[in-house]
Amino acid sequence: MAYAGGHRSSENVAMSWSATQYSLFEDERTRPVRDLLGAVPPRPVRHATDLGCGPGNSTEVLLQRCPDAQVTALDSDPDMIEKARERKRLCIPRVHMVTADIAGWSAPEPQDLILANASLQWVPDHGRLYPHLVRQLSEGASLAVQTPDNLEEPAHTALREIACRGPWAAKFEDFQLPPRHGTAFYYDLLSPLCARVEVWRTTYHHPLADGAEGVVQWFKGSALRPYLSRLQPHEQDDFLQMYLQAMQGAYPPASDGKVLLPFPRLFVVATR
Ligand SMILES: C[S@@+](CC[C@H](N)C(=O)[O-])C[C@H]1O[C@@H](n2cnc3c(N)ncnc32)[C@H](O)[C@@H]1O
Repeated sequence: MAYAGGHRSSENVAMSWSATQYSLFEDERTRPVRDLLGAVPPRPVRHATDLGCGPGNSTEVLLQRCPDAQVTALDSDPDMIEKARERKRLCIPRVHMVTADIAGWSAPEPQDLILANASLQWVPDHGRLYPHLVRQLSEGASLAVQTPDNLEEPAHTALREIACRGPWAAKFEDFQLPPRHGTAFYYDLLSPLCARVEVWRTTYHHPLADGAEGVVQWFKGSALRPYLSRLQPHEQDDFLQMYLQAMQGAYPPASDGKVLLPFPRLFVVATR
């Protein structure tokens, strides 16, 4: 098991999402969107796009930031798009929804703001992708990206260990996560193309109810999915049991019984 090289496809971590499971922690998962957009230099926005909109939580914040803009929300997952359409009916009616792959996306007209919150970590070849996204911007506009930076956290290292050591190890021999890069990679990549590049890393500490079971529920909505998708139902139960035990050891409860889950995230705001 390894991280894929820069140009490798992320196909072998392809998976389907559960919008309901993902949304169990919607408040916690949406906070980085606000922090990210808060760092975007203010300017009039006519066209904005949310890449990897998920259930529409990030789109809703984008729309609050630029209420007069024509906003497009794009995602490739049918369950997420369905949930986002539900939100569109209820509170973001003006949003244009698109089912498509970010990897092949180009904007139909120059964008004044492109948001990608917690989505580009699933898309390969950032050395090509980020400059391509910057080229979709109008002058003075920003690309705002947040990606989880937690692959070395116990919640992730345990996934890799359990995958390698269980009776299912052969099913993970070719398993590769898309590559992750540090702050310098994004700065060096984008500063020749942009007037200003801001990069920073923040660790959130999310209090989760239900102790280690809360950690399992959190990652059932994201990082566990490519692992479980390779297993039969009875293997999934065993995998989850081993993961719960690992999480009980890694994240002891706080005084109120909740688990404080550290979650490092990397932010990039690149302004043309
Ligand atoms: C972790 S969710 C983030 C949802 C939302 N943006 C938020 O802020 O919570 C990641 C989303 O990215 C979408 N995604 C992942 N890879 C994608 C791709 N190549 N093209 C389009 N959407 C993708 C997934 O379907 C999922 O809905």
